[in-house]
Amino acid sequence: MSIVSATPENITAGAQLLRAGRLVAFPTETVYGLGGDATNDRAVASIFATKGRPSFNPLIIHVPTVEEAARLVDFDERARRLAAAVWPGPLTLVLPRRQHSPVSLLASAGLDSLAVRIPDHPIALELLRATGCPVAAPSANPSGRVSPTTARHVAEHVESGQLAQDVAMILDGGPCEVGVESTVLDLTGARPTLLRPGGIPRETLEQYLGPIAVARAIEGGGPKSPGMLESHYAPTLPVRIEAESAVAGEALLGFGPDARDAMLNLSPTGDLGEAAANLFAMLRALDRPTFRGIAVMPIPDHGLGAAINDRLRRAATR
Ligand code: TXA
Ligand code: MG
Repeated sequence: MSIVSATPENITAGAQLLRAGRLVAFPTETVYGLGGDATNDRAVASIFATKGRPSFNPLIIHVPTVEEAARLVDFDERARRLAAAVWPGPLTLVLPRRQHSPVSLLASAGLDSLAVRIPDHPIALELLRATGCPVAAPSANPSGRVSPTTARHVAEHVESGQLAQDVAMILDGGPCEVGVESTVLDLTGARPTLLRPGGIPRETLEQYLGPIAVARAIEGGGPKSPGMLESHYAPTLPVRIEAESAVAGEALLGFGPDARDAMLNLSPTGDLGEAAANLFAMLRALDRPTFRGIAVMPIPDHGLGAAINDRLRRAATR
């Protein structure tokens, strides 16, 4: 495993590794992904094994164009409208899997739907085009842990043995601009349903689609999105949310201009985009044995704040 800068030569080498069934970590606008050939059962199985991910939690399939996506899933008018408006971008659409979709059944955990997205990152797009097959890519962290927003974060997981050694290459594209994962929207039913708040706010999607329902973690006895596990994105230390101040031994993660006692501030000006971009790196930076816990100040719940609060709530659940 090595971190390499994302030169054209290294992107070509990464694409060759992917086609050979190996795993390659690569930057997207949201977080770093751990990619594997989505049509190769063994590559997909090794993604689950490397992350320690439960096999019932399906993967997002990354493609470079809408045409490619339309070979894997059935697009309806709503999906076409959103794709035209938002892709490439931090939106994942869950759509009915096409009957002869070449994607490994393991990748979609046996569901008859499939999650697809076109990432808005030049390196990711170049890698996908060069690979020529759909790429399954969860966030490149051990299951349940904080997602990586730099190549170094990924390397630390590999070096510490939390990600098994079969990551063949880490393509370095610098820090991710959005910083929280894509918004996951289920369009398999009559009512569009938000499965995961993420890098594109629900309010923005509603401008194109009208009202969007929000899935609750447990619906009809089972998680609607298998990824809606309660505990997730967890640092090693306990996380306390909606904190006005830190108690003894806690590190305070602040937000906004009033956070004078904060050790780090997600956004001194109170900008939610900046806060999302800083969230995971700052949680990692404060996750040190010198502290007993991480206290996080309240974050407004609109726009990108919904995704930030979702991640923080789950980081605080154990
Ligand atoms: O921003 C992102 O989406 C990043 C980058 C790498 O693209 N990827 C990512 O993947 O966050 P992952 O595996 O960490 O999260 C995928 C989410 C999970 O919550 C999973 O349950 C959900 O998408 N998902 C995938 N396929 C699904 C399906 N067919 N139906 C419902 N939910 C699905
Ligand atoms: Mg993840």
